[in-house]
Amino acid sequence: LDFEITRTERPATAADRARVLADPGFGRYFTDHMITIRYSPERGWHDAKLEPYGPLPMDPASQVFHYAQELFEGLKAYKQPDGSVVTFRPFMNAARMNRSARRMAMPEIPEQLFVDAVELLVRTDKDWVPDTEGHSLYLRPFMFATTRALGVNSPASEFLFMVIASPSGLYYPRGIKPVSVWLSQDYTRAAPGGTGEAKFGGNYAASFAGQKQAVAEGCDQVVWLDAVEHRWVEEVGSMNLMFVYGSGSRVRLLTPALTGTLLAGITRDSMLKLAPDLGIPAEEGKISIEEWEAGCRSGEITEVFGCGTAAIISPVGSVKGADRAWTIGDGEPGEVSMRLRQELVGIQYGTRPDPYGWVHKI
Ligand code: PLP
Ligand code: COI
Repeated sequence: LDFEITRTERPATAADRARVLADPGFGRYFTDHMITIRYSPERGWHDAKLEPYGPLPMDPASQVFHYAQELFEGLKAYKQPDGSVVTFRPFMNAARMNRSARRMAMPEIPEQLFVDAVELLVRTDKDWVPDTEGHSLYLRPFMFATTRALGVNSPASEFLFMVIASPSGLYYPRGIKPVSVWLSQDYTRAAPGGTGEAKFGGNYAASFAGQKQAVAEGCDQVVWLDAVEHRWVEEVGSMNLMFVYGSGSRVRLLTPALTGTLLAGITRDSMLKLAPDLGIPAEEGKISIEEWEAGCRSGEITEVFGCGTAAIISPVGSVKGADRAWTIGDGEPGEVSMRLRQELVGIQYGTRPDPYGWVHKI
């Protein structure tokens, strides 16, 4: 597809941009342009545009407003030492969006078109990619149902795919200081056969009450347990969880297996590949809250962290549930967590070799 390009007549000034980039936070500011691509059964993907960032005219009967047929992705663009810009494993995001699309009865988008759209936006708004180490341009591809219909006998047939971009600093105001987590037993994020594996907006809508409860309990983040027994650990907030066992030459990593109710994180996958290269065997498995508590009390579990694109890694320092509470480590990020973080960040920012060809030059 060829993109029709309309540049904004009023781009942000260099001074405006500098003000934003000095303290971008996360998801608060957006760049000058956006991508839109339409889908209909007759024409497939068509009408690809790069246009000025701004509001959308939408029919109030658009299916997404009523039945929430919406998917999204998240990835980042990173400034390299030579001033060029790269994305990280963008085809993994494209493939995951298509897996999500199959689950939500939405159309798949050609992976190359997904990546071209993302990279056209980054190229156009390149001046918004932060220079500061640890900062990046967060990219948000998403897709939703625009069909005008209130009936639910069939899924929507018309969709809009979009990409917007937001300069990003630290996702959590606490940075990489360990967070406290609440074991959610009243609310579950995802059930077998449900939508937990899809990056579907409704999963996040359904998670806010659990997150609010975690905060009311004095914690930073919510830990999601399995929907059947409320025992098996799945994710933390919107991140995958990693457990570090042992130390020194006997260290190993465990992450909950992809049972169909977890999101297959790209950071998770990257950690599983990088850890063995650093001499840390890594496996996917099962861990219950009882095993988590006992492992921390005996000293067998030495570090725990969440990982995802937005926060990179977020160490967990303490755990609280309705009938139990314990701590992990000494209030500082653990050594293994930090080594893995440095390795990943080094590849993303071009300061370390990229042995798997993960970095995608724009
Ligand atoms: N789990 C959930 C529920 C998420 O929303 C995310 C974030 O996208 C992740 C895990 C981490 O995935 P990734 O590493 O691909 O960002
Ligand atoms: C992530 O990138 O790790 C996220 O969880 C994105 C979040 C804003 C939904």
